[in-house]
Amino acid sequence: MGILEGLVAPLLLLNLLISSVYGRFVVEKSSISVISPEDLRSKHDSAIGNFGIPDYGGSMIGSVFYPENGSTGCHSFDDNNPFKSNSSHPRILLLDRGECYFALKVWNGEQAKFAAVLVADNIDEPLITMDSPKENIDLEGYIEKIRIPSALVDQSFGESLKKALQKGEEVVIKLDWTESMPHPDERVEYELWTNSNDECGIRCDEQMNFIKNFKGNAQILEKGGYTQFIPHYITWYCPEAFILSKQCKSQCINYGRYCAPDPEQDFGEGYEGKDVVVENLRQLCVHRVANESNRSWVWWDFVTDFHIRCSMNEKKYSKECAEEVVKSLDLPIEKIKKCMGDPEADLENQVLKTEQELQVGRGSRGDVTILPTLVINNVQYRGKLERVSVLKAICAGFKETTDPSICLNGGLETNECLERNGGCWLDSRSNISACKDTFRGRVCECPVVNGVQYRGDGYTSCEGTPFPESALTGCHCPRGFHGDGHKCEDINECKEHLACQCDGCTCRNTWGGYDCKCKRDHLYIMEQDTCIGKAAHFSENTSKFGWFLTFLVLAGVVGAGIAGYIFYKYRFRSYMDSEIMAIMSQYMPLDNEHNEVQPLRQGSSKQE
Ligand SMILES: *[C@@H]1O[C@H](CO)[C@@H](O)[C@H](O)[C@H]1NC(C)=O
Ligand SMILES: *[C@@H]1O[C@H](CO)[C@@H](O)[C@H](O)[C@H]1NC(C)=O
Ligand SMILES: *[C@@H]1O[C@H](CO)[C@@H](O)[C@H](O)[C@H]1NC(C)=O
Ligand SMILES: *[C@@H]1O[C@H](CO)[C@@H](O)[C@H](O)[C@H]1NC(C)=O
Ligand SMILES: *[C@@H]1O[C@H](CO)[C@@H](O)[C@H](O)[C@H]1NC(C)=O
Repeated sequence: MGILEGLVAPLLLLNLLISSVYGRFVVEKSSISVISPEDLRSKHDSAIGNFGIPDYGGSMIGSVFYPENGSTGCHSFDDNNPFKSNSSHPRILLLDRGECYFALKVWNGEQAKFAAVLVADNIDEPLITMDSPKENIDLEGYIEKIRIPSALVDQSFGESLKKALQKGEEVVIKLDWTESMPHPDERVEYELWTNSNDECGIRCDEQMNFIKNFKGNAQILEKGGYTQFIPHYITWYCPEAFILSKQCKSQCINYGRYCAPDPEQDFGEGYEGKDVVVENLRQLCVHRVANESNRSWVWWDFVTDFHIRCSMNEKKYSKECAEEVVKSLDLPIEKIKKCMGDPEADLENQVLKTEQELQVGRGSRGDVTILPTLVINNVQYRGKLERVSVLKAICAGFKETTDPSICLNGGLETNECLERNGGCWLDSRSNISACKDTFRGRVCECPVVNGVQYRGDGYTSCEGTPFPESALTGCHCPRGFHGDGHKCEDINECKEHLACQCDGCTCRNTWGGYDCKCKRDHLYIMEQDTCIGKAAHFSENTSKFGWFLTFLVLAGVVGAGIAGYIFYKYRFRSYMDSEIMAIMSQYMPLDNEHNEVQPLRQGSSKQE
């Protein structure tokens, strides 16, 4: 390699690394309709914030408040809450962009008991995604605590809301997330872009926490055929000129075709990027092989078990340890080996090659540029990577009324049935109700009680035949009752220890059934008569962007030696968003030339 080439190539490749990594960022949207005043009636797009809990599948009607003082919301409203109202609607806070992080504004709004926060852009531009700030400023950990949804609206819509409020009018709007998640059919397809590296600090821990907490839900959904989940792993590749370099040899397999950055950012010690790629490949193969025998959910067990049993931290991250886990889960080890192929061969690996091709966005999804990335029904999930909010988003992906029962409980209920039975039909004698709390709000649907489908409109009438007509011939009592078939009596499942035998559970008998409640933070799964842990909350920030930056900086460090791994197929594309570049320049030393590249008008995300 000539001297000139030697100098230029690393720079050029680093540049390409950055430009390629931006890829095509998609701003995910929800809609806002103005209900009153009448002259403002209209529908607008807003950009879903990448923190808090967007109400995927749901909507919220509320009246808008705009603080006269401190309209940027950068200081807490605690001392003198300026928002008194007699409105019965939930209150939605409108704030101006600027002066502080988006997440701080939303947190201040939540503290002042607002149900949602809208941020009006202060420049005339296409919608951007509000992202959480990099971790070290979040001393109080408020980003993790945000539970309310938030959205960014464009400058002109913000102005029109403010004008109406200044005239003293009540402004009522509907925030609507029902179209934010496509829900075409009875099965939700989702994918998680992840990594087997467990030594990247907080980001890796968060990703793993999510996988552990979500595992129970994911497996129920998968076993029931409600979802099709596919795990994915990002890989880099080594530029041709460097394939024989020491660095590429230690970070890549299959002659530079598939690489990952060194976990410790140190070529001299610990694990190498190569180890990570091989393990990623194994996890992909575990999923493929398990899927062949219709046990695709075993991937969740493998990944969590592997993390517990074979961590890098304890120096157990190895082939031998992984194979122990494979065996303990009763997976065919030979098939997995065959799927993985020979990492030393100068050949393509079909599994990893497919992964690289999938990194490139298709249709509405956008490219995968952030780790971890969750894609549901081909739309990138925005919001906190946390069990409840992810489950809510997945549940919003089912065609109406086809959502599995896990969507109807699990901390998602709106509890509207507690008040006046939600206005639905109720048989006061047997306490059988047509009211169901779902994350979409309450629905009035005649219930199925012990296998008997009640029929009616769900509001005023439901009729069931607890003793089926077939009782004319051989009579027997329906489930939950015993007797000779002519006279049936309710079984007390609690007393007779037939159900709800879990530790710390409380059992309550009902007519023809029972209610089982698990101890705090646990969720009862009737089919299995067992409790599973709900994710309480995470102590750490799950900013995907921050994760991505960590990753990128890591890649950058490696890049200094290897001149950068770049995304497959991206070599000659130069999507470059100058605004993101400005943020990036805080993290990476970049020369001005990069900032001047004209952006293609793609979406972007910002922290403030
Ligand atoms: C807003 O701030 C100004 C000046 O600081 C003050 O005079 C005024 O009373 C404040 N208004 C409200 C509603 O707090
Ligand atoms: C709320 O209603 C009460 C009585 O209905 C009234 O006295 C009070 O002034 C109202 N407050 C506001 C802020 O309109
Ligand atoms: C899993 O298996 C099913 C058939 O059982 C197949 O349709 C699907 O494509 C497979 N998924 C993957 C990721 O291989
Ligand atoms: C897995 O399921 C598919 C479709 O339901 C079926 O065709 C196939 O035979 C099953 N494979 C095994 C090994 O059970
Ligand atoms: C009826 O069921 C509801 C919900 O399960 C419960 O809160 C209520 O106490 C029950 N009422 C009676 C009279 O059993």
